[in-house]
Amino acid sequence: MKTMSIGNLHVPLPVIQGGMGVGVSLSGLASAVAEEGGIGVISAVGIGMTEPDYRKNFKEANKTALKKEIRKARAKTKGVLGVNIMYAVTDYDDLLKVALEEGIDVVITGAGLLLKLPANIDSSVLESRATKFIPKVSSGRAARIIFHSWSERYNRVPDAVVVEGPMAGGHLGFTRQELDKPQKDLASLVKETLQELLPYEQKYGLEIPVIAGGGIYDGGDMYEIMEAGASAVKIGTRFVTTVECDVADAFKQNYINSTPDDIVIINSPVGLPGRVIVNDFVQAIQAGERKPVKCSWKCLKTCDYRKVPYCIAEALFSAARGNFDEGFSFAGSKAWMATEILTVHETINRLRSEYSLAELSRDAVLAV
Ligand SMILES: Cc1cc2nc3c(=O)[nH]c(=O)nc-3n(C[C@H](O)[C@H](O)[C@H](O)COP(=O)(O)O)c2cc1C
Repeated sequence: MKTMSIGNLHVPLPVIQGGMGVGVSLSGLASAVAEEGGIGVISAVGIGMTEPDYRKNFKEANKTALKKEIRKARAKTKGVLGVNIMYAVTDYDDLLKVALEEGIDVVITGAGLLLKLPANIDSSVLESRATKFIPKVSSGRAARIIFHSWSERYNRVPDAVVVEGPMAGGHLGFTRQELDKPQKDLASLVKETLQELLPYEQKYGLEIPVIAGGGIYDGGDMYEIMEAGASAVKIGTRFVTTVECDVADAFKQNYINSTPDDIVIINSPVGLPGRVIVNDFVQAIQAGERKPVKCSWKCLKTCDYRKVPYCIAEALFSAARGNFDEGFSFAGSKAWMATEILTVHETINRLRSEYSLAELSRDAVLAV
């Protein structure tokens, strides 16, 4: 397995753990993945929901909790740590500022295009290159738009890019129609993104890693996509069923008990489709039922709490604590493949041996 470099940042294991919001990937999971040599990622989304003052001042609660989780993770590992911040949250600017102040190694942004830094952040942070910026996109075209914008504004470009296909868990950067009939597989998305980044690699004399995510579950998936040109993979779903994942056991068991038919797409109040494991709550909202929303904070730019049928932050938070009567879990299309809860170390060992097996099988075929 190759290692990955993002500029001067060396990542021994080419795996970025997907940031999983509202309490799924916090310091526990992130530090364990970083300790194995990958990039461990804390999700900043809804991170303050366990803080006592969340409902009074969610922005402060999120800032406090993010700072705490970064420090807890740092105390457990010297490995590479990242923070995932959804552009769609109303306190995106504040959370990014905290992550930078805490000296985070990597920032990954999704659910919106990272065209520029927010006004509260001085672009001089880009000069030191201490923190690597990695936008998440769903097409080569989106990568081009972001890179063009950065190049024009800052005379530099983001440090790497994650391209995520339609099989991923959580919010998806595709329309319902595109999800029903995907036009391109992940390998094609990787190739078109590599193509779009070539002019910027030449202009700035850089190697810009393309990291592939969405439906990468085993080492075979990983081997295939790296053969297609990806420098690393982003994996969310497989890390949910680990001992260190920060959710309740019932959430992990929900994955283990699921079948392929249980994994469905919903329309999220974020304004994007999302992939979830179906349950009574999901069926009720799909049938048009409304769950009372008492929102005093408005965490999402796109959410109108007077109109939405339920609060997605509350629903995800309930599930993360094991309460599936009032919520549901996000999950990738391969969540049904989970059969047991392993440590992150065991999971990575399995990934490595599955990867080697795929490599050996390919070599054997070539030798015939
Ligand atoms: C439970 C869960 C929660 C997620 N939450 C977020 C999130 O808050 N922000 C985000 O950008 N991506 C989120 N994702 C997407 C992951 O970061 C990752 O990109 C994705 O899981 C990769 O696909 P995979 O699940 O098939 O491995 C989530 C995914 C899952 C499964």
